[in-house]
Amino acid sequence: MTLSVSNLSKSYLENNQEVEVFRNIDISLEKGSFVSLIGPSGSGKSTFLNLISGIECPDTGKVYLNGKDITGTSGNVGYMFQKDLLLPWRTLEQNVRLGCDLRGFDKKTTADETSKWLERFGLLEFGDYYPHQLSGGMRQRGALLRTILFGQSTLLLDEPFGALDALTRREMQYWLLSIWNEMQNTVLFVTHDIEEAILLSDQIIVLSKRPAEIVEIMDVPFPRPRKPELILSHEILELKKKLFHLLNT
Ligand SMILES: Nc1ncnc2c1ncn2[C@@H]1O[C@H](COP(=O)(O)OP(=O)(O)O)[C@@H](O)[C@H]1O
Ligand SMILES: [Mg+2]
Repeated sequence: MTLSVSNLSKSYLENNQEVEVFRNIDISLEKGSFVSLIGPSGSGKSTFLNLISGIECPDTGKVYLNGKDITGTSGNVGYMFQKDLLLPWRTLEQNVRLGCDLRGFDKKTTADETSKWLERFGLLEFGDYYPHQLSGGMRQRGALLRTILFGQSTLLLDEPFGALDALTRREMQYWLLSIWNEMQNTVLFVTHDIEEAILLSDQIIVLSKRPAEIVEIMDVPFPRPRKPELILSHEILELKKKLFHLLNT
């Protein structure tokens, strides 16, 4: 197991009252797998990623990466926040380069790596553009690229396509699958979109309402590479119904 958490719990004080966000969560991810975390809004998905990334500390429980206890320490995984806006005063290239800067590459290596990957992401000719000059899809690709260039093999992605229109979103999903296929990262992907979870994942973890507990961990049996027609198939409808039911109980 690459990434595992055991017995994770977290509460916050809200108006002087303790609000339990989730309790006793256990999960483990196989190396190289694509796992989605799905749950109602406010169920603690972003909080969960914050805990795994180490930018917040759990009340109880541990986070392990390749067997090492990384609870409360940051920098071990790549993390794309729910609102991962590119810095508006930096060009796309300067934004993306941040991932390399954090790894302490020298100038030339950074420049080479950055342009190689901008090209791979179909963004090379937009390197000098500022975020406001780019489309929503390009900005998200830029933010994801920055996360990848941070160089960690485990990626936490928090609703990366949430703000995109349906068509762009679909394009980005297939594009992410091709990147994942090539990079072999382990991905924990937060979404509240059932179809997106099915299309992308090996496994789907379903969270309940607050205080969130794991309702079900579901395997997604469809072979890869997954074709666009999959969305229209009968099997997917069955799975969608099941997930819909789980999310609304
Ligand atoms: N820093 C914080 N202080 C207090 N409450 C918080 C904090 N972060 C999150 N919460 C609360 O925890 C709950 C879960 O939030 P969040 O993890 O953002 O849910 P989701 O991502 O599933 O929509 C929400 O009710 C939110 O108000
Ligand atoms: Mg969230």
